[in-house]
Amino acid sequence: MKVLGIESSCDECAAAIVEDGKKILSNVVATQIPFHAEYQGVVPEIASRMHTEWINRVVDEALLKAAVKIEDIDAVAATAHPGLLGSLLVGLNFAKAFAWARAIPFIAIDHMLAHLYAANLEYDNIEYPFLGLLVSGGHTIICRADNFDDIAVLGTSIDDAIGEAFDKVAKHYCLGYPGGEIIDKLAKKGNASAFNFPMPKLKSDHRYDVSYSGLKTAAINQLDKFRNDTINEYSEEDIAASFQKSAVDILLRGLFNAIEDSGIKTVVAGGGVAANSYLRAVISERKDLRVIFPSLSLCGDNGAMIAGLAYCYLKRGEHTPLTATASARVKSYRNIRSTK
Ligand code: KG4
Ligand code: ZN
Repeated sequence: MKVLGIESSCDECAAAIVEDGKKILSNVVATQIPFHAEYQGVVPEIASRMHTEWINRVVDEALLKAAVKIEDIDAVAATAHPGLLGSLLVGLNFAKAFAWARAIPFIAIDHMLAHLYAANLEYDNIEYPFLGLLVSGGHTIICRADNFDDIAVLGTSIDDAIGEAFDKVAKHYCLGYPGGEIIDKLAKKGNASAFNFPMPKLKSDHRYDVSYSGLKTAAINQLDKFRNDTINEYSEEDIAASFQKSAVDILLRGLFNAIEDSGIKTVVAGGGVAANSYLRAVISERKDLRVIFPSLSLCGDNGAMIAGLAYCYLKRGEHTPLTATASARVKSYRNIRSTK
């Protein structure tokens, strides 16, 4: 079964064709980063307009690269939530129109569940239950996964998402956009102990939660101190390394608490921040765990994870009515249990 997956929740206009939830026949990601970079953040109006302009070409390219004819597509899926509403609507409505015109099933996909599925595109034997580490620009979620659509959220950020913190710190230091990858690169040449940012104090019933506003503010306040120091030059590399270390330490405190309490030793990561080299290196030191990271191209937003996850629903005989609409927020599916 060949599924066309469309992803347009933020600033990547993406389409992919995946066979039987596994085999990536094509995975086209057209990034809008250069168009948002001058604003150092995603401008929603520009994003949705560009999706509208690009979506046809991106889907055409996905078909071309997969050497698949439009008649050979068995189902079409698109991200329905969470994300920027205007952007989501472009991909979702494209997919619904495609499904209607071709009289094939349509599947609305949750973006974070798709990030969690991404590792399945490359690994065969990921068994439930496992702990999910979902780290992106908009969300930070530590969860227990019992099925592809059955996750119990154990911990989240009580304020900023981890990727958002990377992006905002990079923005204040004028490092460029998006900040995560840039900080990751700079940090490789920096001293992670140069600045000691405090760990957030969370109450005992928040053992799996994370918080980034304190770290973000501390890193930004440090910039004011640098500006007032007219004698010494500061090192962007040291700030990047110290900030990154703290951000990852905060995340791993929550994750390691969840591992300790649940006894679950398999961790599956997903989302843009899962590309972070320091995060990947530090977790891999835990030899008692099986930690599965998608390869870098599948960490960020892409259509393959959408098409892959859609196949799981199709296999169960499920699809989505064409009346389904987009939602900017995480939608609570009935079968997504929350322990909170
Ligand atoms: O999943 P994603 O592509 O889009 C959302 O769903 O938000 O994640 C984007 C986020 C951005 O905040 C970006 O700065 C961050 O992922 N990111 C990274 C790295 N690469 C991307 N953060 C840290 N280290 C990286 N190497
Ligand atoms: Zn994402």
